[in-house]
Amino acid sequence: MTTEAPMAHPGRVIRDRYELRSQLGRGGMGTVWLAMDRTLGRLVALKEISLTPYGERVEVQRARALREARSLARIRHPAIAEIYDVFEEDGSPWIVMVYVEGGSLDDLMRRRPLPEPEIAAVGRDVLAGLTAAHAAHVLHRDVKPANILVGRDGNVVLVDFGIAHIAGESGLTSHSIMLGTTEFMAPERIDGRAVGPAADLWSLGITFFCALEGYSPFRRESPYATVYAVCNDDLPPPRRRGPLYDVIAGLLRKDPALRMGAAELDRRLAAIAAPRRPEPPVERPRSRPPQPPQTPPGLHGSSLHSAAAALAAMAPGAAGQALDAMAGDPSRAAGVLALLPADQAGRVVGHMTAGGAAALLRQLPASRGASILADVADRVAADILNALGATPAAVRLVEAMTTRRARRVLEYVPPAVTAALLRATTDGRADRLLAGLSPAVRAQIAIAD
Ligand SMILES: Nc1ncnc2c1ncn2[C@@H]1O[C@H](COP(=O)(O)OP(=O)(O)O)[C@@H](O)[C@H]1O
Ligand SMILES: [Mg+2]
Repeated sequence: MTTEAPMAHPGRVIRDRYELRSQLGRGGMGTVWLAMDRTLGRLVALKEISLTPYGERVEVQRARALREARSLARIRHPAIAEIYDVFEEDGSPWIVMVYVEGGSLDDLMRRRPLPEPEIAAVGRDVLAGLTAAHAAHVLHRDVKPANILVGRDGNVVLVDFGIAHIAGESGLTSHSIMLGTTEFMAPERIDGRAVGPAADLWSLGITFFCALEGYSPFRRESPYATVYAVCNDDLPPPRRRGPLYDVIAGLLRKDPALRMGAAELDRRLAAIAAPRRPEPPVERPRSRPPQPPQTPPGLHGSSLHSAAAALAAMAPGAAGQALDAMAGDPSRAAGVLALLPADQAGRVVGHMTAGGAAALLRQLPASRGASILADVADRVAADILNALGATPAAVRLVEAMTTRRARRVLEYVPPAVTAALLRATTDGRADRLLAGLSPAVRAQIAIAD
């Protein structure tokens, strides 16, 4: 059916013009190469669409490559990969486009957790690109982290219009073959109902969920189970409810008519992405009025050891509440907590209010506090640091953390507080910690300074 094409390899020159340098990525459709355009003396990305002699007819695959090029060509937007050329070589279609130096959102998510403002900022750019595509009557149909590129200077570019659909063009995809990634696919596409721009926004919602929570909400053991979950299962609850999760819930309404629209989405993302104003650390009273009734029997009045035993016997959620209820006596609460093994103490602290946990950690030596926080989720630990504010206790805690951990937690602390904390550290790691933070957070720290 198709002639065996000579393997592309680094050093090979295509059409006397494009010198292949290295592979940038590989997806379902083929290979993307970094290449030097010898004529214009610039780096470009070359996507080689591999035609496979099985599955769909080769002509259909070839037509799809042309369609990708045509979809791209009709949209001009900074968040849509600019296309330079398309040609056929050795029987394979090739697309020449702008080279985005950086990596995909997928790579980024694997390397480090992404704070909400950064996800929202990337999301706004993707949304702008999608809106431009939709205005040109192009549906992307495969929005997912691997198809969102984030350049070194923070520019965001949507790629992979391989299965894009141009309204009015005859369908090239047969009903029997469902193209795209099922776990990102909108229910109306699975059901075969009418599909519009809202389907791309659903996929963007799944993308946000993956970036925020670290897993794909409807991915299951088998493609069938995944498809079933997309259509029927409720969205899993968040680890911590925040404004981005509410946006996600608005995007993942199964009924496209009820789904959040682009205009509201942009407004919400803008509010989340905006650099927060530097918040001066709030002076907290050292002690609070006692709140006696919530404390379960056994924590008050008894010895520290029996209180610790009672605490250890509770579920972490109840134990966290019990310690929160001891806010009037933080030194006793800290004494009880200090008797638990660090990992167990961490689970309890993870269920306390940030203010309660902060008051308690203030009572403990920083090394003990850091080992307790080692078992608390990054975001939760960040909330606790934020509640401590730029105080000596917070500075000591950061100093007691490993570099890796400190970076992961500081990523979620408001940049103004992070800046103040790093300035106050005396262990000489400030530059190294700062360098490990995401460019977005670093930029905000620069603003806050
Ligand atoms: N213009 C580009 N610049 C840099 N890297 C790119 C570019 N286009 C694609 N890539 C990389 O190649 C990978 C696969 O490209 P994609 O167009 O998604 O192909 P597929 O259709 O095979 O999934 C992307 O995830 C990305 O890492
Ligand atoms: Mg892809």
